[in-house]
Amino acid sequence: MFTPSMHSRSYPDITYFSDGFLIQSPAKVNLFLRVLGKRSDGYHELETLFQELEWCDELEFRDADEFSLEIEGADLRTDSGNLVVRAAQMLSGVSGRRMRGSILLRKRLPLQGGVGGGSSNGAIALLGLNRLWGLKWEVERLVPLAKDLGADCPFFLYGGLAHALGRGDDIKPLTDHADGTFVLVTPDFGVRTAEVFGKIGVGLTEVEKNAIFNPLWSRETGEAYPLFSPSNDLENIVFQIHPRLRHFRDTLLERGAEYALLSGSGSTVFGVFRSDETARHAAHELARIDGVKVTVCRAVARSRS
Ligand code: C5P
Repeated sequence: MFTPSMHSRSYPDITYFSDGFLIQSPAKVNLFLRVLGKRSDGYHELETLFQELEWCDELEFRDADEFSLEIEGADLRTDSGNLVVRAAQMLSGVSGRRMRGSILLRKRLPLQGGVGGGSSNGAIALLGLNRLWGLKWEVERLVPLAKDLGADCPFFLYGGLAHALGRGDDIKPLTDHADGTFVLVTPDFGVRTAEVFGKIGVGLTEVEKNAIFNPLWSRETGEAYPLFSPSNDLENIVFQIHPRLRHFRDTLLERGAEYALLSGSGSTVFGVFRSDETARHAAHELARIDGVKVTVCRAVARSRS
């Protein structure tokens, strides 16, 4: 299921130009997502395996006296409700540097799509402004800021394949990547993560609600893979709210996917195919369904030096 990558690049992907630089802001899927229990801070204790994909937004950074954010491709707010602006405010607050620089976000990833688009943009803003403002902080120093931005953000400081515990924000970066061709099916509606997590305890006793289960893999186990099979504990809740998503999952399996899952809390469902050709046939078929967008791409491995 995983291949170690001998020639992987370091993270993130950057293109330089005369007055600035462009950083790819990638999507993720969760190859495995287990809810271990409810925490006293209201969040849920998770164990997950994040996988970066080739599918990306783009963030361009240019030097400018004033701070500005422009967005192409989506109608999104450009105030502190946007994780890019929040990231700039937080980094400025902690570093003492004045907020400056012009940022252009080219949005391609779905909103509320379960592929981490907003979280990725927030984390890439931290990496980009760290560079633009000449801070040169180690990534580890940005982790607490990313955790404050959102539970999925710390992963996007590392990319590639990573195991995560805690709220999904305690990251152990890995060097492999998931094999195969990914087919991602995104419907024309999003899913609110908080609503899905809010439904987890329903039907459980107080004792069951408060139990925290052990993860399959501890941080100390090293690089050996846990014995897990692809699964997502949020699937049943989300499939009950949106039965169409279960249908997408089943169709991917019928069309030859090795495994197919909801990513995060949805709304994107993905299938992984051993054969690129079979993947493309399945994508073609699914793209005929009204109101869905289908993306074909591969997973990315990162060097960890
Ligand atoms: O951290 P973020 O704002 O992305 O999380 C969105 C919502 O998802 C949280 O407000 C919480 O309700 C839920 N969540 C959770 N446990 C997690 C991650 C998210 O309950 N580990």
